[in-house]
Amino acid sequence: MSSWIKLIESEKIALGESRCVEFEGKSFGIFHLDTGFHVIDNICPHKGAPLHEGFVQNGVVVCPWHQWEFQVTDGKCLSIQTQGVTSYPVEIRENSIWVEVTS
Ligand code: FES
Repeated sequence: MSSWIKLIESEKIALGESRCVEFEGKSFGIFHLDTGFHVIDNICPHKGAPLHEGFVQNGVVVCPWHQWEFQVTDGKCLSIQTQGVTSYPVEIRENSIWVEVTS
């Protein structure tokens, strides 16, 4: 079953910035790229680093702890192909960022 949750007002994340929002035990990494807002699980599957603190270039975030690379558009890990993080469908509704989560 899936549901949509509101994470944050979109104006609070400028273009090129990223932010972490916690909601009901989940940690969402929100990235504002020139392609729009993208949301992935914020916890690196390697050792648990907060991915939103990583350097972002060309749609790829580099984990701040050991430099695994993840595509923020779909959560794929470019460093270890068997790894990756969940990517969430995003909608902007009334100037806020919403994501669809499945439980
Ligand atoms: S915690 Fe992210 S690469 Fe190690």
